[in-house]
Amino acid sequence: MPVITNIEDLRVLAQKRVPRMFYDYADSGSWTESTYRANSSDFQKIKLRQRVAVNMEGRSTRSTMIGQDVAMPVAIAPVGLTGMQHADGEILAARAAKKFGIPFTLSTMSICSIEDVSKGTDGHPFWFQLYMMKDRAFIERLIERAKAARCSALVLTLDLQILGQRHKDLKNGLSAPPKLTLPNILNIATKPRWVLGMLGTPRREFGNIVGHVKGVENMSSLSAWTAQQFDPALNWGDVEWIKKRWGGKIILKGIQDVEDAKLALNTGADAIVVSNHGGRQLDGAQSSIEALPAIVDAVGQRIELHMDGGIRSGQDVLKARALGARAVYIGRAMAYGLGAMGEAGVSRALEILHKELDITMAFCGRTDINTVDRSILLPGTYPTA
Ligand code: GLV
Repeated sequence: MPVITNIEDLRVLAQKRVPRMFYDYADSGSWTESTYRANSSDFQKIKLRQRVAVNMEGRSTRSTMIGQDVAMPVAIAPVGLTGMQHADGEILAARAAKKFGIPFTLSTMSICSIEDVSKGTDGHPFWFQLYMMKDRAFIERLIERAKAARCSALVLTLDLQILGQRHKDLKNGLSAPPKLTLPNILNIATKPRWVLGMLGTPRREFGNIVGHVKGVENMSSLSAWTAQQFDPALNWGDVEWIKKRWGGKIILKGIQDVEDAKLALNTGADAIVVSNHGGRQLDGAQSSIEALPAIVDAVGQRIELHMDGGIRSGQDVLKARALGARAVYIGRAMAYGLGAMGEAGVSRALEILHKELDITMAFCGRTDINTVDRSILLPGTYPTA
């Protein structure tokens, strides 16, 4: 067993242990993957200011997201097919998040259902991510199910009315459960741990959907489902409709443009997630960290801002916070941990990020995450509005 010291170690181990089609699904961007790459490489350009002889005792990374206490300003992002990175993946990741004291967001396109995750975490509140679909009755039922599970926020994704093309998913024939073609059998045969886990769980399909939508008994392909069911006509009126039906805290995810951020503000949402869907939708869009400052300047005084895309270290978390994001979400860093070592791997990913965040904050001369602002960054190295 290799010594795991950073998120990249978890990625390497996950790549070994997870069948190719699911590892590739998590680790891909759309088309040329330029936005996917920029999400993390743009963090590297931002330089921190080292301070010395500042009392670094008694540090705290505790903060809040939409009024909820968090052990660090990091939430687990909704990631489709998480339960294919590891058997019962969503339950395991939700447990790790609960133990650490950060929010877990369950994707509509998860393998474990809302009810599975609720049961698997002893009713601990989690966040539920919603995609707008044409079948409004199904959306209403999903919202009711999320309420029944005591989900404490609804994360409405706005940037996936249509699906960006990820070449590898087409080449691998991505489906859940995987179709047993010869190449798939040969690849899966090299992943005995994953197979054992999957044989031990009944959860191998899209748990929120299969059995809950008329005529969908064996929905296996994400791309076919999105093409048929996701609503390409989604508009701000629909956002109001969902907000009213839900009635609780709501977070709008997938904002990249200042004009959209202003429109999102009008809805009265509790937070916005500056996001390009991990570089999986509009390839050629700017990185999330580059898009953030203009949105902070335009609406940051009036709504809580979160961001995701490219977070692979505690330094990245600190930089995002310095540039005005109250908190960040981790998708791939969680998926790597899960694929590598199940729940222990997600916990490990959270510990790694926390330790890096804590130490980096100290090197920058701060002891409380809530005091971090742009002044910890070297002028000229970070994006501005
Ligand atoms: C969304 O579910 C995605 O595949 O990015």
